[in-house]
Amino acid sequence: MLLVRGGTVVTAEWSRRADVLCDDAGRIAAVGPALDVPVGCDVLDAGGLLVMPGGIDPHTHMEMPFMGSVSSDDFQTGTAAGVAGGTTTIIDFVIPDPGTSLLGAWKDWRAKAEKAVSDYSFHVAVTHWDQRVHDEMGILTRDCGVNSFKHFMAYKGALMVDDGVLLRSIGRALELGALCNVHAENGDAVAYLQQDLLARGVTGPAAHPRSRPPAVEGEAAQRVIAIAGLLGAPVYIVHVSTEEAAAAIAAARARGQRVYGEVLAQHLVIDDGVYADPDWLGAARHVMSPPFRPKHHQNALWAGLASGQLQTTATDHCCFCAGQKQQGRDDFTQIPNGTPGIEDRMSVLWHHGVRTGRLTPEEFVAVTSANAAKIFNIHPRKGTVTPGADADLVLWDADSSRTVSAATHHQNVDYNVYEGMTLTGLARHTISGGRVVWSDGDLRTVRGAGRYVERPCFAPDMAAQARRNAVAAGR
Ligand code: URP
Ligand code: ZN
Ligand code: ZN
Ligand code: ZN
Repeated sequence: MLLVRGGTVVTAEWSRRADVLCDDAGRIAAVGPALDVPVGCDVLDAGGLLVMPGGIDPHTHMEMPFMGSVSSDDFQTGTAAGVAGGTTTIIDFVIPDPGTSLLGAWKDWRAKAEKAVSDYSFHVAVTHWDQRVHDEMGILTRDCGVNSFKHFMAYKGALMVDDGVLLRSIGRALELGALCNVHAENGDAVAYLQQDLLARGVTGPAAHPRSRPPAVEGEAAQRVIAIAGLLGAPVYIVHVSTEEAAAAIAAARARGQRVYGEVLAQHLVIDDGVYADPDWLGAARHVMSPPFRPKHHQNALWAGLASGQLQTTATDHCCFCAGQKQQGRDDFTQIPNGTPGIEDRMSVLWHHGVRTGRLTPEEFVAVTSANAAKIFNIHPRKGTVTPGADADLVLWDADSSRTVSAATHHQNVDYNVYEGMTLTGLARHTISGGRVVWSDGDLRTVRGAGRYVERPCFAPDMAAQARRNAVAAGR
């Protein structure tokens, strides 16, 4: 047993002084002032610290085969970096090659993730459509704890699906009570602009954002919102990076549509100036999709989080080292897309969000864990501090600072997009399943200690939507 004593517990709803008792099964046994110390119980002094739910990163790509490479953080190193930053749960993506079995890919990803040091779950991507996909979506939701399916509207010729597939998959997910996630960029437009740039001899990483301007994202966001609206289906848009997409989501919500938006910590604080780096690698390291944007887009993302129009923060953690990025030396379209971020998300949100007054501490908890737990239907097991919940906690030091560097981070990648940034607010101790896994700079993780988190379908919002559709259909 572990007693976290003397801290201030912060949830998405309230903050108050309370002790937290964790039992040997890895769950929270009690939350309250001045709890008794059971015999044989370890005590962790949380005096002066905030005790919050461990972060949930609902968008990561550990050891993901992508663009001819495999992302360099695996499930062990990536989840370890997460706990060093206060994140205790990830929802990663199973990505079947087009034409192959979803169930087979889910089994492959389950095997890869056995070495995770903290809890994990999976969205499963739909990358083509046929009867087997329809049937396996049913099996995954019924037997495998999957309640969300991912779709790429970009990456033409690889993962991209067209509107026909989107319609079928979103419709199928709706009948199963599962939520669809979408990477919203117009993949045909991107491919056209890429070819145009290459034909004009523009081959460097500065061409990457030119091939994916904000309108490419805005159009796709509007289109998938319209498609989901036709079907009466909720939809979750990943990595919203533009004011166009944020506005499309807000407008849909104002019409009564259930649309959710996710923001990456990277997009909140890094702008497209990074592509002007005269050093090829410096710019190539920032090649991710959607790309970094002109600074004014950041205001829309912060406003979306503060107002609740955008609900979650993630990292899209997808690491490629210098040698891997080099693969696009002569052609920016061959640079593996992705940036690291899992270790620093919580600190970036605290420093740039809470300390600037954009977010309250409770809103910080909402956007770093509680909202993701609710949307993906693992609340209150995750995302809050209450008896019966998993004992996944971060003991947050709101006033200490650290300077981010690849020289000291735990991510298995040779750079950090926040290099040199000094951030106030850090994870002093992280607890995963009732065990201290990070303490004062010391990683105490155990390979394979992470558990697979099953997520049931028909989350409260999905159930409400199903009722609403039935009423509208006169059923
Ligand atoms: O550039 C990115 N984001 N790489 C990972 C795949 C994706 O689009 O999420
Ligand atoms: Zn059907
Ligand atoms: Zn994406
Ligand atoms: Zn991604």
